[in-house]
Amino acid sequence: MNRKVTVIGSGHVGETVARSIADKELADVVLLDILEGVPMGKGLDLLEACPIEGSDSRVLGTNDYADTAKSDIVVITAGLARKPGMSRDDLLMKNFEIVKSVTEQVVKHSPNAILVIVSNPLDAMCQVAYRVSKFPRERVIGMAGVLDSARMRAFIATELNVSVENTHAFVLGGHGDTMVPLPRYSTVAGIPITELLSKEKIDAIVKRTAGGGAEIVKLLGTGSAYYAPASAAVEMVEAILKDKKKILPCAAFLQGEYGIRDLYVGVPVKLGAKGLEQIIEIKLTDDENAALQKSAAAVKELVEIIKM
Ligand SMILES: NC(=O)c1ccc[n+]([C@@H]2O[C@H](COP(=O)([O-])OP(=O)(O)OC[C@H]3O[C@@H](n4cnc5c(N)ncnc54)[C@H](O)[C@@H]3O)[C@@H](O)[C@H]2O)c1
Repeated sequence: MNRKVTVIGSGHVGETVARSIADKELADVVLLDILEGVPMGKGLDLLEACPIEGSDSRVLGTNDYADTAKSDIVVITAGLARKPGMSRDDLLMKNFEIVKSVTEQVVKHSPNAILVIVSNPLDAMCQVAYRVSKFPRERVIGMAGVLDSARMRAFIATELNVSVENTHAFVLGGHGDTMVPLPRYSTVAGIPITELLSKEKIDAIVKRTAGGGAEIVKLLGTGSAYYAPASAAVEMVEAILKDKKKILPCAAFLQGEYGIRDLYVGVPVKLGAKGLEQIIEIKLTDDENAALQKSAAAVKELVEIIKM
């Protein structure tokens, strides 16, 4: 392979991202974690799966950032999950420290990489990686909207008994309780779902989408979702590596778009070889815009706590 993707954090999301990139033969993969042995063991296991999958991706697990040198893309999934007794702010501070130190190391070894951030709280962690890396906004992009819209697509397809491939869904805003699913821009074979489903059904889908992460956390008991989050991150990685110019909802550093400045918020962007190649501005109704601004305000609160 002449492309290299590093995945920081070899937990549930990180290892699943690494597996998918190797299975799809998109690039060589380096899997890094602070845990001793674990990333090496998982990396070796993944390498040994490659002959069966017919993939010539080379996979390496490591604790050493030197192995990540000259990566084209670095996916950051390192972080703690919330533990009992830990407030949201405690988690924010912990993951802030982790993402800050990870970004410093990544930048030293891969100064030209594109960063795809996954660690939560997502939009605030994007802001940390952006400020610490000093990369242009084109090269620091957050994964949330692809996941949230995939959840919405799954619910639409199930409700209407149609192929997921016919569905398209738009979710804007921060990754959290204040996300803004947009039914008007969500379609089945090009037909807005507002023409196919009752208001009650759409409201239920929107509510389930916004609570999609919490629904899985509750079912699992410990830990959070990782299959769909990893698929979402890999869709972004693939769009960049293949220069697809794919329009996907991602967290982007806004500089006046949608009336928001100096803040990461989820909006539709074009992803290609240069990373974020364009921010797409769509027309919003007053209600939709108010919801987006409220969501941005929630992100701003977190960013102010960590002074980013
Ligand atoms: N953006 C999204 O939509 C989305 C979706 C799912 C999960 N997440 C977030 O992704 C992160 C990872 O989730 P997970 O389920 O894989 O968690 P996990 O606990 O399974 O894995 C996290 C890994 O990070 C590692 N780590 C901690 N500090 C590190 C450091 N300084 N350097 C390198 N590695 C370090 C840990 O050792 C662990 O292996 C969490 O913050 C989670 O909230 C985000």
